[in-house]
Amino acid sequence: MNPVLETRGLCMQFGGARQVSALSDVSIALHEGRCLALVGESGSGKSTCAKLLTRMLPPTGGSIHFGGNDVTVLRGRRDLRAYRSQVQMVFQDPFAALNPAHSVQHHLERPLALHKPSLTRAERTERAASLLRQVELDPAATLRKFPHELSGGQRQRVNLARALAVDPAVIIADEPTSMLDMSIRLSVLDMFVPLKRERRIAMLYITHDIATARYVAEETAVLYGGRIVERGPTDRLIDDPRHPYTRLLLAAVPEIGRPFGTTRLSVEADRVRAISRGPGELREVAPGHWVREIAA
Ligand SMILES: Nc1ncnc2c1ncn2[C@@H]1O[C@H](COP(=O)(O)OP(=O)(O)O)[C@@H](O)[C@H]1O
Ligand SMILES: [Mg+2]
Repeated sequence: MNPVLETRGLCMQFGGARQVSALSDVSIALHEGRCLALVGESGSGKSTCAKLLTRMLPPTGGSIHFGGNDVTVLRGRRDLRAYRSQVQMVFQDPFAALNPAHSVQHHLERPLALHKPSLTRAERTERAASLLRQVELDPAATLRKFPHELSGGQRQRVNLARALAVDPAVIIADEPTSMLDMSIRLSVLDMFVPLKRERRIAMLYITHDIATARYVAEETAVLYGGRIVERGPTDRLIDDPRHPYTRLLLAAVPEIGRPFGTTRLSVEADRVRAISRGPGELREVAPGHWVREIAA
């Protein structure tokens, strides 16, 4: 099956006094009805990847293909808007993403008015209510509320409903639960699962927590220093990690951690990070399971 959204050798170099290579040679593919988890520590390049995919930033190298078309070349406002309606983003900070001056109803109806101008006002309101039901919020209790009247979890549900309003083909969720209370993270993450099955959406789930990848993502790519160091079926990566950096991430998960034992973890972690930078070749060690070689 052809990917819905694909990157080929994507690179992002930030300029200024100090050149930062935020992404190097990143190739990933998102498929209809499936989810890819992009996992890595803070600073590994995850959000940069999301910004390039949604064309909030132009890449400095490589290309992005949507439905087979090169969208790296899109420039005009209209083309970019049409593209972004297909590739929606859910951000990490549920507070920053909503405008405090507008009701939930406004947040949901505005994208509908923009992208589905044929709908009547009554149809828009019905659509907004149905979107809220999909993210398990009660429309009667929620439509007229303002962002400050909602909990963090409710706001993130509204953000997801808003992303769904325009019937996107792709949803990119950048650490969607990392700013929420531990106790509600899984219930919010659960919202994303039926999107794949029922709406056939292709998803990119960005997280620093490799353990959560298992809940939503069939495939996982591990990013470090702007490079993919390992990718493959999520279960394989978690049960049989081959790259030392993947093992390091797993060692930090209490219910999984074992590879390093408890001794000298931080010394070992520094050593692993040091050898995990750099441009080794990606090699396929099992069907669909790729591991970057470590330069000797
Ligand atoms: N606008 C920018 N200008 C300069 N450097 C940036 C910019 N955005 C991100 N970076 C750098 O790129 C690297 C990757 O950042 P980011 O993509 O935010 O990582 P993550 O989301 O994994 O924490 C970091 O070193 C960060 O400092
Ligand atoms: Mg980030």
